[in-house]
Amino acid sequence: MCGIVGYIGSEKACPILIDGLLKLEYRGYDSAGLSTIENNKIICLKDKGRVKGLQNMKEINTLNSSIGIAHTRWATHGKPCSVNAHPHLDCHKTFSVVHNGIIENYNELKAFLTNAGYTFVSETDTEVIPNLIHYYYTNGDEGDKDRFAKAVRRATLDLKGSYAIAVISSIEPDKIIVARKDSPLIIGTKDNEKFIASDIPAILEHTNNVYILNDGDLAKITNNNVTFYDEKFNTINKKAEIITWDAKSADKNGYDDFMLKEIYEQPTAIRETIGTRLDQNGKCNFDDINISKEYLLGISRIYIVACGTAMHAGLAVKPIFERLVSIPVEVDIASEFRYRNPLIDKSTLIICISQSGETADTIAALKASKAHGCKTIAISNVIGSSITREADFTIYTHAGPEIAVASTKAYTSQITVLTLLAIHFSEVLELEQGEMLQNLKDEILELPSKVSITLENTEQIKNFAKKIYKEKDVFFIGRGTDYTACMEASLKLKEISYIHSDAYQSGELKHGPIALIEDNVTVVGIITDRRLLYKSISNLQEVITRGAKTLIVTNQDISEKTFPNIIRIPKVHPLLSPVLSIIPLQLLAYYVSKEKDLDVDKPRNLAKSVTVE
Ligand code: AGP
Repeated sequence: MCGIVGYIGSEKACPILIDGLLKLEYRGYDSAGLSTIENNKIICLKDKGRVKGLQNMKEINTLNSSIGIAHTRWATHGKPCSVNAHPHLDCHKTFSVVHNGIIENYNELKAFLTNAGYTFVSETDTEVIPNLIHYYYTNGDEGDKDRFAKAVRRATLDLKGSYAIAVISSIEPDKIIVARKDSPLIIGTKDNEKFIASDIPAILEHTNNVYILNDGDLAKITNNNVTFYDEKFNTINKKAEIITWDAKSADKNGYDDFMLKEIYEQPTAIRETIGTRLDQNGKCNFDDINISKEYLLGISRIYIVACGTAMHAGLAVKPIFERLVSIPVEVDIASEFRYRNPLIDKSTLIICISQSGETADTIAALKASKAHGCKTIAISNVIGSSITREADFTIYTHAGPEIAVASTKAYTSQITVLTLLAIHFSEVLELEQGEMLQNLKDEILELPSKVSITLENTEQIKNFAKKIYKEKDVFFIGRGTDYTACMEASLKLKEISYIHSDAYQSGELKHGPIALIEDNVTVVGIITDRRLLYKSISNLQEVITRGAKTLIVTNQDISEKTFPNIIRIPKVHPLLSPVLSIIPLQLLAYYVSKEKDLDVDKPRNLAKSVTVE
């Protein structure tokens, strides 16, 4: 996934482009570059490394143009280096392109263009785009006022794969052409200035009036006008959206890192998410999700499909749907699901969870499901994201922008909103649940305050982080929903501290993994289910007798005599326990990473949203 920024207007483009890239570095940061048009000539500056390196180039101060495009890269084709960095120019240096996505047929296009006399300097797929645009521009009509836009449109029709592109030209230096398919792109407008970006935070300080491009859209942007076209180059009307986030919500608000800010935003994120779907009178509001009793009675299985943390949220709500709706639930990893030929049809309901709404595997899984005749529901945190444009229905979490690569508030918000959906389905089916539904609704309304209480206890977590940050391995064990929380806790630790970690079902240890336990190995146990209390205690005692040091996260009556390090969390319905038990372990991962002086928000090798396979 990469970050794209563009500007055309009355101000100098460079500072706006750089500032936009800095806000998008979470999307990828192994190289960065920009192009502007100075005296009808394209000037392109780019290099390996972070945006700061680009900002410190001395040539930056020579750029006075008020039109430009910029890019921060997460490499997919070609190692991170200056030549492979974006923007890319055609070999005649008349078009400059920034691109987010993957051109799957770039080899064929490269061969065609090479035969047509074009030359290439990089290893990237992207470099075929400016040369293809040049090819079609050269073969366009001399007098056509839309020759540039049509050349871009014609070129995109040859592209297979995914793209969000912004293009400038030294031949027509008064406009930017953008187009998208499967990768996000937005246009912000303000008087005689226009802003282009992959994501909202990059332009929010300039304007909250935003057009969100759909797949297949192309736009011609001058400083006074934006014209949209479809794939046949017919003009189309689009409605601008007003983004309600304020610019600060995309900043750190005084926290050292986005991740810590987002961990502490969870009470608000959960409260905001509840607020859209459950009123204070306990009425669920899913009127926009047109799922009838008759449809649900015809459903034989629910598939929850996602990646990473989103998949873990799916695992957490599997027992909730099965308990409340009495329909079997499968949770699958999107990259497996899409190639597994799953046994699905119109009697299968598909729920795809994606914080960014741009994860390629999850979007592909949703598209494959629709092809099998399944109804699809997307759970996303980003308004207008690609997955929401594909799904039959969308349910938003309202966690606000999640910038840190490690997902935290999205996870707890996803569990919250999906629990409410399960309650809604149970009510639609008119299943006899006694007090269950009302109790769960009451518990959900109390979640924000219980999360706040859980967040207060940081000293003990910081101290334990100091004990374990040099460890090579850390294991998490639990039973039932505690195990699903362990999977998320283990992912958090490994992705931001680079310590190897695994999660195991406590009862499974004896079947092999306990061989890994030796003197001073760290084992974290989660115990929140009273029914499994004594079994869980004995599993932890088994590892202690083999030399392990333990940390226990619990809301059960366990004495410090039994286990030396206990993090206590508020009591909560066992089905909702991952929302609370994960909090101290998000913080543990954070403080271990800080002890190792790592870049918490931008862990190595990772990007915030994996928009490629
Ligand atoms: C979680 O901390 C990771 N950043 C990663 O596993 C992430 O959850 C996964 O890539 C899915 O992203 P999505 O929710 O935006 O689809």
